[in-house]
Amino acid sequence: MTEESFNMEKAVRLSVESDIAFLSLGGPEEKTVILDAERMAGLKEAVLAVQRRSDLKGLVICGPNENCFCAGADINVIRSVESVPQGEALAREGQTVFQLIDDLPIPTVAAICGPCIGGGFEMALACDYRIAANTSRTKIGLPETKLGIIPGFGGCQRLPRLLGLGNALDIILKGSVLPAAVAMKKGMVDLLVPVEDDIDSVVLLRQTAIQLIQGKRELRKPQSSLRDTLLSKTSLGRMLVARQARQQILGRTNGFYPALLAAIDVCARGLGMSLSDGLALEARMLGEMIVTRECKSLVHVYFLTEAASKLGKIAGDSLAGLRVGVVGGGVMGAGIAAVHLMQGIPVVLVDINSDVRMRAQKHIETSLSRQRGMGDAAKSDALKKLQLAADLSALADCGLVIEAIPENIELKKKVLGDIAAVVASDAIICSNTSSLSVTEIASVVPRSERVIGMHFFNPAEKMPLVEIICASQTGERAIALTAGLSARLGKYPIVVEDVPGFLVNRVLSPYLMEAAHLLGEGVPVELIDKAATSFGMPMGPLRLLDEIGLDVAAKVASVVAGAYGERMEGPRFAESLASKGILGRKSGKGFYVYSQTGDKVNHELAMLLGITASRRNVSSAEVSERLVLPMLNEAVRVLDEGVAGAPGRDAAGQIDLGSVMGTGFAPFRGGLIQYAETIGAKQLVEKFMHYESQYGMRYAPAPGIVARASLGISFYESVKLDS
Ligand code: NAI
Repeated sequence: MTEESFNMEKAVRLSVESDIAFLSLGGPEEKTVILDAERMAGLKEAVLAVQRRSDLKGLVICGPNENCFCAGADINVIRSVESVPQGEALAREGQTVFQLIDDLPIPTVAAICGPCIGGGFEMALACDYRIAANTSRTKIGLPETKLGIIPGFGGCQRLPRLLGLGNALDIILKGSVLPAAVAMKKGMVDLLVPVEDDIDSVVLLRQTAIQLIQGKRELRKPQSSLRDTLLSKTSLGRMLVARQARQQILGRTNGFYPALLAAIDVCARGLGMSLSDGLALEARMLGEMIVTRECKSLVHVYFLTEAASKLGKIAGDSLAGLRVGVVGGGVMGAGIAAVHLMQGIPVVLVDINSDVRMRAQKHIETSLSRQRGMGDAAKSDALKKLQLAADLSALADCGLVIEAIPENIELKKKVLGDIAAVVASDAIICSNTSSLSVTEIASVVPRSERVIGMHFFNPAEKMPLVEIICASQTGERAIALTAGLSARLGKYPIVVEDVPGFLVNRVLSPYLMEAAHLLGEGVPVELIDKAATSFGMPMGPLRLLDEIGLDVAAKVASVVAGAYGERMEGPRFAESLASKGILGRKSGKGFYVYSQTGDKVNHELAMLLGITASRRNVSSAEVSERLVLPMLNEAVRVLDEGVAGAPGRDAAGQIDLGSVMGTGFAPFRGGLIQYAETIGAKQLVEKFMHYESQYGMRYAPAPGIVARASLGISFYESVKLDS
């Protein structure tokens, strides 16, 4: 065996063994492999070194260890690119290096173990073969469109050539990142290497790659069907596939995500060109997409979610062995218990009602059964970790308890006091209240620094946000533990002060209230909701009220109106419908009527709510502006009051993350503060004054907007306001 080490930069290592070159993307200590400038330069140097040698029989590209292959491009760079030519040049650099791999005259193998994502997968696509270790660590895909760009290092050219246009678009447009076995099924890898417990998967992959190169192992390349061939290889076929994909995307996204449309265009047109022309088109389009507002906003949200997820790692050991108590097994309690069990965290669920306990158990079983990516054994293990109880004494061993009983302050104070009497003196006690003062609830608990709000949203299994609400007594340990636990549950925690409505309901309330004002003016339900979705909200405000439940919404509305006065006051339509037993979707009727044949507007509304006006000629743009401006106004107040600005936390970021993940505020607009920044303080003041002259004080611009407009500064700069 001959062995020669090229000792490249630390970022890339090259060695030769049995006439085969092994290119490793970093040293064994590497935790994440990113294609930053240093790594790209090392990669280029290494491939050129391979190219210069005539004695080599093959090249294997592998990750530095069994935990990572390559997680793709440096997202900081995506954030920093400011011009189309700069973006195009960036894509060109990556494409050039990968083309060198593609052009090598010897067989090339990507040996994948761990994440192989974005640019990492595009590098693998430039190889002749892709083999992947079948472990849960291996994840393969192209998520670029989720960041508002297109795969720009050759992915839009090589994936359609490999899989056919339709199949490639399916992956690129969904931004899919798939487990190894699924990637194999889709044809993204050629061979799945089973991993045995006692064998290092990197060694196994290397052996398999050597066998492939030496011709000792054959691969059966899947044959594409005649239909797929016609749809990819003829211009008519490509046109049909592209047209259908465009229609689907426009229907799903209203055209809000230009990168999706660009990806369809680049993939379809590129497939009809030479590879080099296709790559040029791809680079140009990447340049155009990388400077869009949508891209910058999605990258902004990406960094916020990354920072929130890291809190789970920071809490690390303090969560080990944690047993969680949930008190109240209703709608929220059952869901909260389920999300803990999904992560293997033992749960004691207490409810005084035996029927509710049985229903909760069923709910949890159903939730677990729907968990994709969780094997049957893991599901049954998770269920074994659930203990149901009728009495709080079962909570004695729980290090953290979440109360989810009805929204009644006296009841909550009594039950939290009772919980404190059975758990250890340092156990964290949380309330899932949606509107009550955590400070007041905490007042009855001895050592109240351990009391905190942990506000999950409904349904707990699906909603990605948890509001961590700090009472005036709450200590740092309770904050760190609950934020860490939320992140461990796969949720994004935001830490906020204990103000009425907290953050999410506070910024959402003026939006919902403005919908009621519009309805009262006679604007039709459909027009109001359509205007919101045309802005990019996932559903309109009236449909959202139906989903929340009109009784629940009425309670929150009265809390915020009581606290903030005129700007949150308006027609109490939710309350008035709720008092008639019309509760929204859960009662089959609200602003809409729900039936198995579909939903339609509740045409009795005008009569039920005493609305006599009719105003059908208002423009959708005006309605959406009227809905969104009050939210922006409240978000700036929240920013300047320090509601989300706990020391060391990025207040604007917390508001942006909370608005995107909690209210569904259009992610491609980056969250409420980012959107305010996009419009600019000066223009916002003008818009507010316009509406204030027509609709009164509720449109008075927040002092922080006026101050920034007069100082000409950004929303990311703080202002001193008179209190
Ligand atoms: P729910 O009425 O469905 O469930 C409450 C459960 O608590 C009932 O099963 C009841 O038997 C049980 N319970 C009452 N007293 C108890 C006691 N002393 N010990 C043990 N169990 C007791 O209520 P839901 O909707 O789950 O709400 C619970 C909390 O979560 C409330 O504070 C609510 O404001 C909040 N919340 C509700 C959301 C929703 O959309 N439903 C969303 C976010 C928060």
